[in-house]
Amino acid sequence: MTDQLRSLALDALTRARDRTAALTSCVDDRDLTAQHSPLMSPLVWDLAHIGNQEEQWLLRQVGKGEALRPEIDSLYDAFEHPRAARPSLPLLAPAEARIYASDVRGRVLDILERTAFEGGPLVDAGFAFGMIAQHEQQHDETMLITHQLRKGPPALSAPEPPAHDIGPLPREVLVPGGAFTMGTSTEPWALDNERPAHRRIVPAFHIDTTPVTCGEYQAFIEDGGYHERRWWAAEGWDQIRQHDIGAPLFWRREGGTWLRRRFGVTEEVPPDEPVLHVSWYEADAYARWAGRRLPTEAEWEKAARHDPHTGRARRYPWGDADPTEAHANLGQRHLRPAPAGSYPQGASPLGVRQLIGDVWEWTSSDFLPYPGFAAFPYREYSEVFFGSEHKVLRGGSFAVDPVACRGTFRNWDLPVRRQIFSGFRTARDAQQPAGTHVGGL
Ligand code: AVJ
Ligand code: FE
Repeated sequence: MTDQLRSLALDALTRARDRTAALTSCVDDRDLTAQHSPLMSPLVWDLAHIGNQEEQWLLRQVGKGEALRPEIDSLYDAFEHPRAARPSLPLLAPAEARIYASDVRGRVLDILERTAFEGGPLVDAGFAFGMIAQHEQQHDETMLITHQLRKGPPALSAPEPPAHDIGPLPREVLVPGGAFTMGTSTEPWALDNERPAHRRIVPAFHIDTTPVTCGEYQAFIEDGGYHERRWWAAEGWDQIRQHDIGAPLFWRREGGTWLRRRFGVTEEVPPDEPVLHVSWYEADAYARWAGRRLPTEAEWEKAARHDPHTGRARRYPWGDADPTEAHANLGQRHLRPAPAGSYPQGASPLGVRQLIGDVWEWTSSDFLPYPGFAAFPYREYSEVFFGSEHKVLRGGSFAVDPVACRGTFRNWDLPVRRQIFSGFRTARDAQQPAGTHVGGL
């Protein structure tokens, strides 16, 4: 068990570093130090921040080693410097940042070999190693967002997602009412906000079989959706009026055709692909226009994990097995979502598809702690973000690695954000037959 977790940790750390290297070696030093959007850090900040977090947690805390470069901690502290201010900091130059991150990694691999995976919550089951691999992968997704925002010729390419036999699909499925187990107390590398497992009663609801597609979203645009006040939450309406927003980010209309820019290439918007780069407000407005609503976070997780035949919560929609290429579009293997309905092998017991991978899915829920939450190992990962300011996204995108994506994994962002790889699916209440008691099991 320990040997297996140790090799999983080594594998996850190595995979993260390979991806970091790919994302930071395909552009020149000017592009690495430039700010491609005030919403993002320069890529070279992410690179050294990855190394610095690894130094703080694995080298200093787990390895009880001497600090390597304590003087740079504050430069790479996300709370000390907002993203927009990072380009003007005296950051490590690209070559120096690479050497720093690889020096840390060299020492960490020694620590990994000699650390017992028991004796405290940081090292039990190799948690800190898994946490740091997830942290690096999260920044790899952030860096991919920066690449998407970068102007100029393409620097990245990847094969298209494989074609699947999608077949005729019902528009939605009915998830029966009752209790289910939300969150986890057993997943070894689950982060603090996913814990603990607890029972939730969720009344019956219908949920879309697939994420909302670009074609469906176009119908909302063409129906004047961006110009009808009644579909929009107040702050969302203010945002689209103030910034003259009339389509997802990166879309533009030319003649009668919708085009989008994707990693430096302009292409026609594919009607059957899940819509990407919409804010929570846009998702919420679309759902209202469609006579529906966003799923709550609990509904999303019940659709993704609850097996109505056994009553058990699965790790993933398809079962407990780790994701493979047959289950989900994850890990930056492809630089786009797959058409709606793809990955039939990744379907949930009730037939809901693409819950994992492709696009992060906005839920209607605020980012809040579960009952019994305890911040671990640091308050700044989750706890300081709890409250009504941030909305929860679930399921992961094509850009996230499997190590940072689970049925229980929770992401969050401000409802105005649209540079992230965000999409959504919709839901609606199920009509309860008169006299039926909702809840219980
Ligand atoms: C969980 C994606 C919201 O990027 O702000 C990275 C992850 N936390 N470094 C973020 C994170 C600290 C976080 N999100
Ligand atoms: Fe970070």
